[in-house]
Parts: sequence; C-alpha cells; structure tokens
Amino acid sequence: MAAYKSAIPTRRFDAVIIGAGGSGMRASLQLAEAGLNVAVLSKVFPTRSHTVAAQGGIGASLGNMAEDNWFWHMFDTVKGGDYLGDQDAIEFMCREAPKVVYELEHFGMPFDRNPDGTIYQRPFGGHTANFGEKAVQRACAAADRTGHALLHTLYQRNVKARTHFFVEWMALDLIRDAEGDVIGVVALEMETGECMILEAKTTIMATGGAGRIFAASTNAFINTGDGMGMAARAGLPLQDMEFWQFHPTGVAGAGVLITEGVRGEGGILINSEGERFMERYAPTLKDLAPRDFVSRSMDQEIKEGRGCGPNKDHVMLDLRHIGADTIAKRLPSILEIGHKFANVDATKEPIPVVPTIHYQMGGIPTNIHGQVVAPGADGAKVVNGLYAIGECACVSVHGANRLGTNSLLDLLVFGRAAGNHVVASNLKQKENKPLPKDAADYAMGRLSHLENSKGTEKVQGVANDIRATMQKYCGVFRTDALLTQGYKEIMVLDERRKHVAFKDKSMVFNTARVEALELDNLIEVAKATITSAVARKESRGAHAHSDFPHRDDDNWMKHTLWFSEGNRLDYKPVVTKPLTVDTFKPKPRTF
Ligand code: FUM
Repeated sequence: MAAYKSAIPTRRFDAVIIGAGGSGMRASLQLAEAGLNVAVLSKVFPTRSHTVAAQGGIGASLGNMAEDNWFWHMFDTVKGGDYLGDQDAIEFMCREAPKVVYELEHFGMPFDRNPDGTIYQRPFGGHTANFGEKAVQRACAAADRTGHALLHTLYQRNVKARTHFFVEWMALDLIRDAEGDVIGVVALEMETGECMILEAKTTIMATGGAGRIFAASTNAFINTGDGMGMAARAGLPLQDMEFWQFHPTGVAGAGVLITEGVRGEGGILINSEGERFMERYAPTLKDLAPRDFVSRSMDQEIKEGRGCGPNKDHVMLDLRHIGADTIAKRLPSILEIGHKFANVDATKEPIPVVPTIHYQMGGIPTNIHGQVVAPGADGAKVVNGLYAIGECACVSVHGANRLGTNSLLDLLVFGRAAGNHVVASNLKQKENKPLPKDAADYAMGRLSHLENSKGTEKVQGVANDIRATMQKYCGVFRTDALLTQGYKEIMVLDERRKHVAFKDKSMVFNTARVEALELDNLIEVAKATITSAVARKESRGAHAHSDFPHRDDDNWMKHTLWFSEGNRLDYKPVVTKPLTVDTFKPKPRTF
C-alpha cells in the first residue's frame, strides 16, 4: 500500500470534533472559549445537524412548575432504562442538569416562559415526582422547537468564540499510532472530493446516531452511524447496540416525529374503537409511560385488530381537546407537520401515528469524561486522544430505554464534561504526537477500492436492503426466529456491499461517493445491532423478546460489547453503585 501522507495536505489543531450537533458544539464552545485551536467537521451546515429536529424539551429538575429534585430524576432514568444504565453516570447527569440548562439560558436560548419569568416545563414520558407517585413537569421547552433553538444558540456562541467550522466535510477514518493513541482523522471535502489529514492532540466523535439503518425512522438522512463505523474499523467495540428506541408517535407512513410533548400537553392515543387504551396498560402514567412501554402497547392494539385506517396498521393521536390556542402557542410545528405529512388539521382531526425508530441507546463506550474506554489484555483502558459524546457514545445513562428529553440533556452534560476534560489534558500535552508515514493509507485505500470497483451492486440497492431487513427482523417485538433470519440476511448484505460501485467518478461534489462511504458505516452498525440482539436472551427495555418475555437480572444485567473483527461479542458489568447515594435495586417496571 502506498504511503499517502506526503500527497495529502495536513492541518494541525489542538482538537478536532467530528459532528456539529448539540454535543459537538457544546464541547467545541468549551474548548474555543479556553483558547484552544479547535476544528469542527460537519457533513451539513451546523444548524442543520439532526439535533435541530429535537422537539419536546431538555430534562432538568428545575422545579419551576411543582416540587422536583435530581434524585427523583435519577430514579426515573434508572427505572426508565430498565436497570441497565450505569448509576454513577446517571447520578452525574441528573445532578448537572439544572446547571447546563441555566447556562443555556444565559447564552440566550429562547425558552418558553411562565408568567413569573421562569423557564416553562412540560410533562414528559416517565418523568415523575416522589419515585413514580405522579407525573411531574420537568421538560424545559422552547415551544416544540427546542433542538432548533438550542443549535442556533450554540452556533452563535461558537462563532463568537472563533471555532473553525469545516462545513460539508465528511470524516473517513481515525488515525491511530503504533501505541494505539488517536492522533487525528482523515476527512473528505464533499464539494471538491479532496482529502485532508487533520492532526489533533484530541479527537472527539460527536457524529450522532444511525437511525438510517431502519426503513421507518424519525432520523435525518445524515444519521448513518459514521462515528461508530470509524470506531469499529479502528478496532474499538460498540456497546449495547441491541437497544433501539421506537418513538411511539411517528406520522404513519412518513416517519416524521410528533413530539411526546403533545401527550405532555394533554394529547391522548386512541384505537379504532375510540378507546384511550393506555389507561389499561399503564394506569398511573397512561399516555406518558416510558416509550418502550407505550410502543409495545400500540403494537399490541394493532396486533389485536384495533388499529386504525383501511389496513388497521396505526393508531390515532388526539389533541383536539387541547384547544387551538394552546396548540398554536405550545405546539406550532405539530400543526404544520400534521398538515404537511398527514393531511390533517390537528385542531379538528387526530393524527395517524405508529412506533418509529428514533434513538439508539448504545454506542462507543465512554467514561463520564467522554473518554473512549476499550477492553485490553490487562483490563479496560482509556484510548488516549479519543472522546465520544452524544448519541454516538454510550456512557450508559439511558440503559435499555431512554427517557424523553434525556438526549438533549446527555449531549449538553457530556459535551461540556468532555470539553472540560480536554482543556485540562491539552494544557499538559504541549505538542501533537508525530504522524506516521502511513497515516492516511487506510482511509485512502477504502476510497480507492470504491473508486476502482468493477462491482455490479448499487449503493442505494444495498442500503435499502439493509433498512428493509432491519425493519422486518429487528422491530418492536423480536423472536429467535426473526433475529436469526435477520442476522443471516445482514451477513449476505455485508458481502454485497463489498461489491458496490458508483458511476460518477468526477472529483466535484457528488452524493454517490458520500453515500458509498456512508454504506460502510451503516453495515457496521447493522451487524453490531443484529449480532448483539441475537445473543441477548431476555426482554429488557427496548429489547422485547417474545421467546424470553421477562427480564433476567441473574444472567443478563450486563453490557454487550461488539467487535467488528470476527463479528465477536464480549460483556462487561453494569455499574450499579452511584457516586454518592444508594443503589436503586431492580424492581418490576409498572407505570
Ligand atoms: O418527543 C420528543 O420531543 C422527543 C424528544 C426526545 O427524544 O428526547
């Protein structure tokens, strides 16, 4: 293999962040304000990152509407995650939550307000007072455009702090030196097709999720699991990838998100008989039970023939009784989405909804500073120079099922924490480590394999088949037979994707090249998901296994680690000991 280093331009930074969503820009802000030379790469303009699609709010126990505290938030998060979350990280996140929300307020984030000027908070799924006794209003909201407001706030602060943005750049692969330390990344400028080495003392992956491995998804088209693909190819594990959250309310047939905030503001789910069926499944929290619970209940209604529409394949979200004024004030985007994607006036008609892939609980394993942690011959070790934050990471605060609004919270808390940790370690490390001669060879080899391919497979043909396979075999309810068949089909697709070719080989902006590179990432995530799911013989959170319908704490209270090489699995224990309080012991989950 040729050594490409000399042929490829190189730029040197203190830190490179891959991804300009909420976690990436929260971390970059911390670094740029501390005077570090920081580059942020993004496939899209920063304010178009997928965080922009977050609607309902940020979870934080401000107690603006009624009494609340971080300990109740912690309990809800542990129980919501079906006891798979690491309780040290969960305690850290819930304690930090008010601080990161007030910081945003001071950055100028336009939150909705109460008459007394405090931040408005709405109810959300699984948010309770006094350890499950009753619902509490904990979601700090900017109408139903909280992610939009958040991204614009962070982008403007970053511009002021002189963060360098590389817009429409795609990271291809990490550069690791002989000691295994990460010392930068090879990236492609999408407009020109040129590559560059970005050297860095620290590389932070903030690439978001991979919801595009499924056919019906609330995720943006850019969510192709790029960070996880890079980590997997660099020999690092992916953790808990069997756990994928179905959001109960995606618009049927379109996948577009209808925020849980609709149910927070009083909306209800009804079946073909007009019955508010969640009263039967979750007598206390009803429509505001956690998402895994509500999605399964909806699926059950549909299976038992009480679905709506000619195919009886969805249920209805009814918000007519909320009133046009409240809808216009608190849920303006939902009105628009109803019109555009379901052809209904939500003030007068219910919206057809169905559980839709929304979020991955798993990702690249990290500690609470965002440092990537990988098992080695002598125990788990930090990978020097590498951090992961946001949805691509698994610090394991969401366990087997995330609570609504804890994703925006996660990216703020751990984006900030990683930023602080990197600032401290950069002060100690004065120089960048030397680049090996073959620094770019792996990434360039991948690119030239693609560009010279004589294969007959089409990129979108294989990508669509991955999505259809994952949708069919790895859904809300899983069985051994479904998962085993899905596994076989994904392995065949792994072979097929090695023979993809694309026609337009010109150097200028071409989406075919980018989509072909993304395919390498989609397949890693799909393999990780289906392999981990086949192995887990229990039902926990979002992994509902009809052949093993109960949670099995004796055998399965452990995190899955998947390795690309050899498509191999390993396991590690759940951290049940919080930082300062007593352990929440596993109990049956009723709502
Ligand atoms: O329903 C929503 O607004 C989504 C929020 C979340 O995923 O946290």
